[in-house]
Amino acid sequence: MTETPPERTGDTFPAPDREKRHQFGAGGPTSIVLVGMMGAGKSAVGRRLARRLGWDLLDSDRQVEAMTGRTVPEIWRTDGEPAFRKLESQVLADALASTTPKVIAAAGGVVLDEGNRRLLTLHHPVVWLRAPVETLITRVRRGEGRPLLDDDPAAAMTRLEAERRPLYQEVADLVLDVDNDHPADHVTERLVQALGLSDAARS
Ligand code: S3P
Repeated sequence: MTETPPERTGDTFPAPDREKRHQFGAGGPTSIVLVGMMGAGKSAVGRRLARRLGWDLLDSDRQVEAMTGRTVPEIWRTDGEPAFRKLESQVLADALASTTPKVIAAAGGVVLDEGNRRLLTLHHPVVWLRAPVETLITRVRRGEGRPLLDDDPAAAMTRLEAERRPLYQEVADLVLDVDNDHPADHVTERLVQALGLSDAARS
């Protein structure tokens, strides 16, 4: 059974049970995975972190769209959620298996699948961008391009956040608390420091 890190508030902390598996070798970590709810800032922070490290960014939704030539809402509408989840899992597995260092901005729903969660605990450091639900709601107010938020974004977000919180916690090696007071640049900098990557950063 997977031990979960204790619930805490405040800044980044390493989950003690995972630390060993992610002691970076001389070359540093091979990839970093960002997880969290829609609106947590995975893409914005991921973009900045990738630029900072000189790595590629793999954004799950964009990759699904590139693979299929269709948008996420289109896939959802025509093929349904299970088909979308399969694509999401495939993108995650491919990204985790890649030997090219990447920042992987995983889609918010990847943690729903047990197999995905197992994969996430195996290889690369996983960072949970944890935002208060109020922050998430203000950021995705209109739910644009996110089928799960189509009807009542605030209610859906509140329900999903409560359901998924333990799942993010289960896979997280690091938890970074984010909110509307701290821009993505600041979050990225904290992440670089927390992962001990400042020396590896190119700029
Ligand atoms: C989803 C999150 C979205 C997208 C889809 C479903 C989810 O990605 O994959 O709308 O279930 O949380 P982001 O987390 O990148 O917004």
